[in-house]
Amino acid sequence: MKRHIRFSREDDTLLLLDQRYLPGAEKWFLCRRVRDVEEALQEMVVRGAPAIGIVAGYGCCLAAATTDETDPQWQEQLLEKMYRIAESRPTAVNLMHVVDRMHQAWRTDPDISLSDLKWMWDRLAREIHNEDISANKALGGYGLELLGEASSVLTHCNAGALATGGYGTALGVVRAAKSAGWNIRVIAGETRPFLQGARLTAYELWQDDIEVRVACDNAAALLMQRGEVDAVLVGADRIAANGDTANKIGTYNLALLASWHSIPFYVAAPSSTFDLQTESGRDIPIETRPEQEVTHVGSELVTPPGVPVYNYAFDVTPADLISAFITEKGVIRPPFAGAIQTFLDKG
Ligand code: MRU
Repeated sequence: MKRHIRFSREDDTLLLLDQRYLPGAEKWFLCRRVRDVEEALQEMVVRGAPAIGIVAGYGCCLAAATTDETDPQWQEQLLEKMYRIAESRPTAVNLMHVVDRMHQAWRTDPDISLSDLKWMWDRLAREIHNEDISANKALGGYGLELLGEASSVLTHCNAGALATGGYGTALGVVRAAKSAGWNIRVIAGETRPFLQGARLTAYELWQDDIEVRVACDNAAALLMQRGEVDAVLVGADRIAANGDTANKIGTYNLALLASWHSIPFYVAAPSSTFDLQTESGRDIPIETRPEQEVTHVGSELVTPPGVPVYNYAFDVTPADLISAFITEKGVIRPPFAGAIQTFLDKG
């Protein structure tokens, strides 16, 4: 897939492939200032935990580019813009991690001029972007050891190139399998209400000539019962220190079904998605999104007017339903308690 997140230092613009229109149309969303970045994140022009983090890095660059160095308050203004970016969405920890990393780089030289900071951040934001692609490729390789050469994997939401710097976590494993010449097939759960599976996962796999078939979310149990699923492979938005994992709403359902049918349930995620400060899933904030996403399909109202709905965007899969984590440092297997920190510290 071509790069869907493009930052230009020359004219201080961030161009994002607008995922709201896929697969119907390839439109681009232009960000010049922080409020454009906030809109892009909140309205899901770009989504997926690692991609959100990468955009936050470039967002800080735009924040610096639109700050006036002659203003004696420029540091405070810049900090306020960074907080706004960090608060755009609450669940994906990559967003906070990246803003923190940009802030820490600034703190190494608190007297730095704004123009020097811009250069420093430009390099760092690109580094974060490239690191994500490399991490995805590395974890793709580790994921292979868990799958058979002819596997049918069920995935949920979109944990592919569009959700990351450009390769994918769960779909990174699929891409690695395809590159190894394996006969891998993907079942993409449609992922109501935003349809990341039906629209985005199917789109990018279809573009890359990887076998994909879309299933309604509520077909998962039947497909497992019929032996159509060899493994469930998903990404993550935040993994707590004990292994509890927040991912797109419906992931927990799949983990329960997989456990019942003795099918392995794998989570593929770079170390930037682990949040060791958060002890367990109970402490992960779950985003609620506008009701309209559930009450409407496109512009059409599909529920009786005024009937309230739930629109939790994520759920938390308890660690004991997870067969393994696939990271760029290798595979983490249960028991996870204490093991995750030790594993990630390995360097
Ligand atoms: O609301 P979204 O589309 O940002 O949710 C995305 C997911 O839940 C993905 O599965 C997750 O971020 C992993 S992406 C590699």
